[in-house]
Amino acid sequence: NKDIKILAIESSCDETAASVVKNGREVLSNVISSQIALHTLYGGVVPEIASRKHIEKINQVIEEALKEANTTLEDIDAIGVTYGPGLVGALLVGVAEAKAISYATNKPLVGVHHIEGHVSANYIENKELEPPFLCLIVSGGHTHLVLVKEYGEYEIIGRTRDDAAGEAFDKVARAIGLGYPGGPKIDKVSKEGNKHAIEFPRANIDDAPYDFSFSGVKSAVLNHINSCKMKEEEIQVADVAASFQNAVVDVLVTRTIKAAKEFGMHKVCIAGGVASNSALRQAMKEACTKEEISLFYPSPIFCTDNAAMIGAAAYYEYKKGTRHGLDLNAVPNLKI
Ligand code: KG4
Ligand code: ZN
Repeated sequence: NKDIKILAIESSCDETAASVVKNGREVLSNVISSQIALHTLYGGVVPEIASRKHIEKINQVIEEALKEANTTLEDIDAIGVTYGPGLVGALLVGVAEAKAISYATNKPLVGVHHIEGHVSANYIENKELEPPFLCLIVSGGHTHLVLVKEYGEYEIIGRTRDDAAGEAFDKVARAIGLGYPGGPKIDKVSKEGNKHAIEFPRANIDDAPYDFSFSGVKSAVLNHINSCKMKEEEIQVADVAASFQNAVVDVLVTRTIKAAKEFGMHKVCIAGGVASNSALRQAMKEACTKEEISLFYPSPIFCTDNAAMIGAAAYYEYKKGTRHGLDLNAVPNLKI
C-alpha cells in the first residue's frame, strides 16, 4: 500500500494553519500562525481583521509546512481544506488557496468539515483508536455529542441550545476581568479557587437528555458579580472561576457518560479547544475509569484549531472517495 500524504489547510477562525499528514495519523509538520494577540486588543475575533491576516500569512505558513515535512507539492497526494463552518471571509482564504494549489498541481481537492477535523485530532496520537466511539466536541463555536459510527460517519445526539462551552468560558472570563481568550485563563486561575464556593446552576433540557445550555450559568455568574458590586463586596475571582468551571465540567461529563452508557459505547473521545481544560480532562478521566470506558483526548496543540486535524480527517474522506471540484465554496454554517 502506497503512503498517502495530504497537505491540509485551516483558516476558519483566527489561526492560519497548514500541515502535512501521512496516512491520516502521522504528522510530518504542523504550522500555526495565531492571530490571538491581534484580536485581544478588541476582546474577541474581528472577522475582517482575521481574513486580512490569513491572506498575509497563508503562503508563508504552507511553505513552512512543506519544508518542515521535508516534502514538495509534487510529493503530495491531495489537498485538504476546511470549507465550513466558520467565518466566511476567513474560510474563503483557505478554500481559494487550496483550489489554486489543486488547479496548479492537478492534485485532488478534499473539503473537510471543521468539526470532523476536531474529532479526527484524536486519531493522531491514539494510533489504536478506531470507530465506533462517542465524541464530545467542545470549542469556541460548538458543543456537540456525536456518535462516530465509522470513519466519516456521524450522528449528532446532542448539542448546545445557546452558547458554546468555550463561548461561555470566554464571556465569563471577560466579566471577571481575565480578558481574551478566557478558557485558558479560567483554567489557570481556577487552580487557586474553591470550586464549591458558589453553587451555579446546571441546566437540564426536558426531552433532550444530551442537549446543553450554558446561557443560564453565564447569567448566574453575571448576577453574582452584580450582587457583589451592589453589596460593595470584593469579587473572589478564583472562586467564581472555579465554581463556574465546575458547573460546566459537571454537565459535560455527566451527559457524556450517560450517552456512552445509553448507546453502549466503550470508547469516549473529547475534542475542540475546551478539551484541553485540565478540570474537564481530570473529571472525565475519573468518570470513565469508574464506568470502565476508555478515554481518548488530543494534546492541547491538537485540541485548539490546527491543520493536522484537518489532514487526518481529509485522509479518511480521501479514502472514501470524497473529491471536490474547483467550484468548492466556503459554507459558514455547514452541517455535519
Ligand atoms: O477549537 P478552538 O480553537 O476554536 C473553535 O473552533 O472554536 O476553541 C477555542 C475555544 C475558546 O473559547 C477558548 O477559550 C477555549 O477553546 N479554550 C479553553 C481552554 N483552552 C482553550 N477553554 C477552557 N479551558 C482551556 N484550557
Ligand atoms: Zn475549532
